[in-house]
Amino acid sequence: MTALERIEAHDKLTGAARYAFEYPVEGVAYAYAVQAAAGKGTIRSVAASEAMALPGVVAVLSCENAPALKPVDDGELALFQSRRVSYRGQLVAAVVAETLETAQEAARLLRVEYDAEPHDVRLDVDHPTLYKPDKVNPVFPTDTEKGDPEGAFSACAVQLDATYTTPAQHNNPMEPHASLALWDDGRLVVYDSNQGSSAVRDTLAELFDVEPSRVRVVAPHVGGGFGSKGTPRPNVVLAAMAARVTGRPVKYAVPRQQMFATTGYRTPTIQRVRLGADAEGRLDAVLHEVVEQTSTVREFAEQTATPTRVMYRAPNLLTSHRLNRLDVPSPSWMRAPGETPGMFALECAMDELAFAIGVDPVELRIRNEPATAPESGLPFSSRNLVACLREGAARFGWEGRVPAPHASAPAGRHGLGGREMRGMGVAAATYPGYRSANRAAARREPDGRFTVRIAAADIGTGARTTLTIIAAEALGVDPSRVTVEIGDSDLPKASVAGGSSGTAGWGTAVFRACQAVLAAPEGVEVTVDTAEEVRAQDDYARHAFGAQFAEVAVDADTGEIRVRRMLGVFAAGRIINPRTARSQFIGGMTMGLGMALMEESVMDERFGDFLNRDLAQYHVAACADVLDIDAVWIAEDDPHLNPMGSKGIGEIGIVGAAAAIANAVHHATGVRVRDLPITPAKLL
Ligand code: MOS
Repeated sequence: MTALERIEAHDKLTGAARYAFEYPVEGVAYAYAVQAAAGKGTIRSVAASEAMALPGVVAVLSCENAPALKPVDDGELALFQSRRVSYRGQLVAAVVAETLETAQEAARLLRVEYDAEPHDVRLDVDHPTLYKPDKVNPVFPTDTEKGDPEGAFSACAVQLDATYTTPAQHNNPMEPHASLALWDDGRLVVYDSNQGSSAVRDTLAELFDVEPSRVRVVAPHVGGGFGSKGTPRPNVVLAAMAARVTGRPVKYAVPRQQMFATTGYRTPTIQRVRLGADAEGRLDAVLHEVVEQTSTVREFAEQTATPTRVMYRAPNLLTSHRLNRLDVPSPSWMRAPGETPGMFALECAMDELAFAIGVDPVELRIRNEPATAPESGLPFSSRNLVACLREGAARFGWEGRVPAPHASAPAGRHGLGGREMRGMGVAAATYPGYRSANRAAARREPDGRFTVRIAAADIGTGARTTLTIIAAEALGVDPSRVTVEIGDSDLPKASVAGGSSGTAGWGTAVFRACQAVLAAPEGVEVTVDTAEEVRAQDDYARHAFGAQFAEVAVDADTGEIRVRRMLGVFAAGRIINPRTARSQFIGGMTMGLGMALMEESVMDERFGDFLNRDLAQYHVAACADVLDIDAVWIAEDDPHLNPMGSKGIGEIGIVGAAAAIANAVHHATGVRVRDLPITPAKLL
């Protein structure tokens, strides 16, 4: 395979690559937003005279004067359209000024009065607002049931019944949610940090009631998204509205302090998992019931139990999701939504079962390998979980592990052997192989080079580079002869960089366009649409799989946990670019480390809103936390996927990583922590 370095690497390192906030533009003004100070209620008044009196203030926007927007599905985008306050931290007003500092100071001078009402932000399993959503994201059944799960479980020789909780977690991309908007003769141009310019274009066209062809969204480089930029967020609406009202180009970047309430987060979850097995660990019943939250503004139903529908053979299987509709900011997409919290619970439960019956945790998973997808009964297009587990066990030195937990600890708490307890853990990973319909164009240039155009997004993944390789392979030329243009809604319409579907979805369109252009005359651009090809694909269960291994050292005195080693082995179809693929995998695993040990957004029940405001209060894993981390993969040749034979790789790296670490912590200490993150206090 071609191991190609990122095409834009030099531009990024030298600063030549521009991000949304960095585009130079004449006459620009800056916006700064005001967040609701009430947990729920209505806005009584907005007094703007003091703010307006500050020299350099151009405009104040709020429910009292904002232009009307057309309603769209996502209620979070109805910026300043009502006096209603749905949660603390919601954007209720904004100031536009000549400088960012002036806008910030004027925002402080705005007097917003509220008629407050009691708010409720507490996630609970027996909450009065608990309800069953019609579906879970993106289009999965809310509940599934096969056989007689309750009856079978109660008849099982071995019964594990455990509840796991995961906290709210926030994506913290390096580049903030930033937008520069300008209206030019009724046409809206937006430089915006997003995961899909076509989708942002369509939503803005709807909101501002203009033809999609009159809106252009430009985003050639994006400094991370992880899902939080997967759909347009209020920032781009604010920039476009402010530009419209003032007649000036307006820049708006969400400060990290305001991000926690306004750009989405992963819902906290409460998950009850029941595993019923025989004495050898063969599963007869698997029940996975999830309670999570959504806001009153927008329903977001994380698909937390869906991985349980594909993981293990069990004749009796039940999955369910219930939502609390609370006075909280709307949850949204965060890397491997569903699989990430769901597989934390399921894979910790598998580990607990393994210890309960004395079967090796790797062997337990192999023993429960299904022949077909457990819930749907569909054949897998390919499934190499067992190969991943075996390969990982061999590479990680799993055989040398002492099976009993807490075995490495010295006798007594402060024994002579040192204060460190070591343990190893394993967990499985899975992620669906999605593919969306896309359009792409290709042209042979007079100098023999090729240009490929598609409104794909590179959010740091290496998508531009990977698409170049795919095009070069289809054309039978060296990648250096191909230019791929992405990140602009004026290019052929593309799906978002989400659901790990980019390479499969965009790649299919790029591949087909390149095939077609080989037969076309020079200079003629050929455009293809893969809607039909995607619709016509056969019924297979398409999923990537993986095995995560972790070794931890726990300080017996302080409970401090260091992850000594992590290894991920993945089966994700054909890997197009090993260089960027490895980065994707270890990036996901690093995020899983953060999830296991650090990441936690704390809801303030008294006032509403998350207490976290910055990276000092929301800890993400940094380089020093990652001592020895590696990712490898099993060669998969799967003919049922797409012309490249690839599965998605952007998200599976995080799946199971937290469970592997939690299981290693248990192995090291004998303490089973079922509530993330595993902080020292929970071990002492
Ligand atoms: Mo990813 S959370 O599907 O952008």
